[in-house]
Amino acid sequence: MDVHSKGKPASTKSKMDLSRLNPEQRAAVLHTEGPLLILAGAGSGKTNTMTHRIAYLISEKGIPANRILGLSFTNKAATELKDRVRTLVKKVAGEKAAKGLIVSTFHSLCVRILREFAPRIGYTSQFSILDPSDQEAIVREILKFINIDSKKFDPSWILFQIG
Ligand SMILES: Nc1ncnc2c1ncn2[C@@H]1O[C@H](COP(=O)(O)OP(=O)(O)O)[C@@H](O)[C@H]1O
Ligand SMILES: [Mg+2]
Repeated sequence: MDVHSKGKPASTKSKMDLSRLNPEQRAAVLHTEGPLLILAGAGSGKTNTMTHRIAYLISEKGIPANRILGLSFTNKAATELKDRVRTLVKKVAGEKAAKGLIVSTFHSLCVRILREFAPRIGYTSQFSILDPSDQEAIVREILKFINIDSKKFDPSWILFQIG
């Protein structure tokens, strides 16, 4: 119970419950100044720690959600992190507190940055991303169009050179 509420309606900004975290997880959540590296195995509670840390920064430290970036490698992990963070942030800091929070994969963040800022260096935002088989198909098409034998110029070599 919040001893400071004195009969006022329960605040949505209630203190976060860190009692279900283990001591290492709690230390990581409470470490809000400067860099922190956590090395831990699969299923050991890293996502849980990140989720609580982000929610803690927003609800207890007053950090605006749009100043926090959560990144993961795979779509699956990023989606899980995003869902868990949003749920917890809404619970401890209210419905709107998660607005502007970016939790994504490295790849989708980079695409987002390219789409937003490409025009500043004279490129369009309306680009498509081609997977390796699409890339090869396009190079083959180009070679055919300019009458170059794709047996003499291997499309994968050309792609490598472009890369
Ligand atoms: N301190 C804890 N106490 C109890 N269960 C926990 C704790 N930390 C994590 N878990 C649970 O363990 C499982 C794995 O946690 P998760 O954060 O997804 O691990 P990781 O990201 O390291 O693979 C989840 O079901 C999570 O709810
Ligand atoms: Mg995880």
